[in-house]
Amino acid sequence: MNTTTTAPAAPPLPDDLTAVLKRMRMPYLRTAAPEVLATARAQRWDPTEVLRVLLAEEARGRDEATKAARRKAAGLPAGKTFESWRESDSSIPVPTQSALATLEWVGRAENLAISGPSGTGKTHFLEALAHQVIDAGMRVSWFTLESLTAAIGRAGADGSIGKTIARITRAELIVVDDIGMLPSGQAAAEAFYRLVDATYERRSLAVTSNIHPAGFDTIMPKTLATAAVDRLLHHAHVIITEGTSLRLTDATAGRGVVPLT
Ligand SMILES: Nc1ncnc2c1ncn2[C@@H]1O[C@H](COP(=O)(O)OP(=O)(O)OP(=O)(O)O)[C@@H](O)[C@H]1O
Ligand SMILES: [Mg+2]
Repeated sequence: MNTTTTAPAAPPLPDDLTAVLKRMRMPYLRTAAPEVLATARAQRWDPTEVLRVLLAEEARGRDEATKAARRKAAGLPAGKTFESWRESDSSIPVPTQSALATLEWVGRAENLAISGPSGTGKTHFLEALAHQVIDAGMRVSWFTLESLTAAIGRAGADGSIGKTIARITRAELIVVDDIGMLPSGQAAAEAFYRLVDATYERRSLAVTSNIHPAGFDTIMPKTLATAAVDRLLHHAHVIITEGTSLRLTDATAGRGVVPLT
């Protein structure tokens, strides 16, 4: 769209047109219209083109607003994306990284389990994927095992577990980051089981942990853990990260902080 090269002051829209655009809730079209119309007049556009450009502007504005709202609602932790991700510093094979970044597995409601030692990029990689899911027009619900347990616990207290689970699983990708730093009790295992069961073969669930999901029964009550992991792994990509902590590498190289002056 070529609206930036027009004469400085595009005449404002007539009041009645502004009023109807407000009534029809077309804020992006309304904002763009004066310049688009000025350009259209100057360049003798076909009327079809005018309509197309104006409606495309409204559609673009709405899509952007939806994505911004979903990014906020997703609760992603640190704003880490693929921009700051170094493919070659990760122990995940590059072809695997690329295949996951296509998000086809999300379309197929397959799961993802990333396990490995601390500081090996599990959370960063998953957050980068989550941003990509939102950019692709889908929704994400991000939890840690702790925040999931708290959310389900609150819902249990006022009898709205079903509703809460339904709301969480509206997202195409649900994340439980950081399972198994500390032993978790019955409440956490129950919350995790409920989520795994509700997403089973319907939604993508992604988890990160320091231990392989097959070992979750060592940090959670065994019966629930076994039932949850059975469903989780049935259609799951299992990724193992390895190596030393990139936090440690940064710290020992003096890249972890901005030098004091
Ligand atoms: N391949 C990478 N490219 C760029 N930065 C990376 C990469 N891998 C890790 N990092 C950075 O290293 C730090 C640790 O990574 P991250 O938090 O993802 O680790 P983790 O595996 O989730 O660790 P933990 O098990 O302790 O939660 C972060 O600051 C992250 O941005
Ligand atoms: Mg992490």
